[in-house]
Amino acid sequence: MNEITPIKPTQSGPTCTAPMSGPVSQAEDGQALCARAPVGMLCELTHRCPLQCPYCSNPLELERVNTELTTEQWQDVMRQAGELGVLQIHLSGGEPTARKDLEDIVKTASESGLYINLITAGVTLTRERMGKLAEAGLDHVQLSIQDIEPENADRIAAYKGGMAKKREVVKWVKELGLALTINAPIHRQNINSVPAMIDFAVEVGAGRIEVAHVQYYAWALLNRASLMPTKEAFMKAARQVEEAREKFKGVIVIDAVVPDYYAKFPKPCMGGWARGIVNITPSGRVLPCHAAESITHLAFDNIKDKKLADIWLYGDAFQKYRGTEWMKEPCRSCPRKEIDFGGCRCQAFALTGDATNTDPACSLSPLHAQWAKVAEEESHSAPPAFVYRRVGGAKTVPAPETEPSGV
Ligand code: SF4
Ligand code: FES
Repeated sequence: MNEITPIKPTQSGPTCTAPMSGPVSQAEDGQALCARAPVGMLCELTHRCPLQCPYCSNPLELERVNTELTTEQWQDVMRQAGELGVLQIHLSGGEPTARKDLEDIVKTASESGLYINLITAGVTLTRERMGKLAEAGLDHVQLSIQDIEPENADRIAAYKGGMAKKREVVKWVKELGLALTINAPIHRQNINSVPAMIDFAVEVGAGRIEVAHVQYYAWALLNRASLMPTKEAFMKAARQVEEAREKFKGVIVIDAVVPDYYAKFPKPCMGGWARGIVNITPSGRVLPCHAAESITHLAFDNIKDKKLADIWLYGDAFQKYRGTEWMKEPCRSCPRKEIDFGGCRCQAFALTGDATNTDPACSLSPLHAQWAKVAEEESHSAPPAFVYRRVGGAKTVPAPETEPSGV
């Protein structure tokens, strides 16, 4: 699965303006609930996937098919999301098209008034299935590419012939009148293709491309030494993005995600913990972000046991880092704390062992210099072989031993 950023829905709906922290009344009415609903819901329908990208944001312990929610359970989730006032859902995975009941889930989501985005690698789709999904109410397709150069794309995904298939898929998406975003996860082994990937997105008529530098948690953290670009390569790619924005102004929207280790300030991960996005795993665990299970002391409710609204508003894991009250210095007294919410909780936990620490991506973090040095060293060393994302794959090869001591 790739990163998600909220897309602009084409339908109007409730706008979440109420504060997301502080006590709330269990008795609040439907309108108030709606105002506090998440804007987006990421549904990981399955962790099954024919690709094995080494930067996948799925957890290292992938969920098995026999634990997945049933069709009826996912349909119930869609109805609850519609009632709660969620605007858009992102159907993701793994590879969501591995679910044979995807059309049924899409249909219920559409009937529930949700704007539906399918996040897919595209390689298992057919023209007939794409048509059925459009008929069921699909609005938007977010197609991932691994590279433009087919052999390198095959190597990164450990899957043969993916790029040729993607060229077919984009044609079908356009024929069916669906909105199209190209998602291009960027790392040291494809960063030279940034201009070609943007050209591809323009050529196929995408409305948007995400030039999204890999974020280092889950599989990407395990593969960080193979994926981290040099700062020079990143700066060059950033200039290329700026040039392309100028060249293709009014033609395509180019969103860019900076690699955290080279940032001055972190991104407001997920728009802030439990502020606008809720994530549901294949087995129904409800998370504030797709990597939240990496914070090992958090416990998560399951949609099989509780209502979505209850979990979103009152769930322990959601309340834990919502708002700014939990922050320590330097975030606590920082003027940016309502802008980036201290960065990424999962990254803070992964790199420092304490999720309430400032994300080391921030230049004001006392640990920032250490992590910038790690990036510098790893990106200038020969990249180790990929640890491919597969069930049990994380156990077969040890993680890179490069963490600075004393963290
Ligand atoms: Fe953001 Fe905290 Fe850094 Fe301030 S100190 S910029 S709030 S991460
Ligand atoms: Fe979990 Fe950033 S990935 S808060």
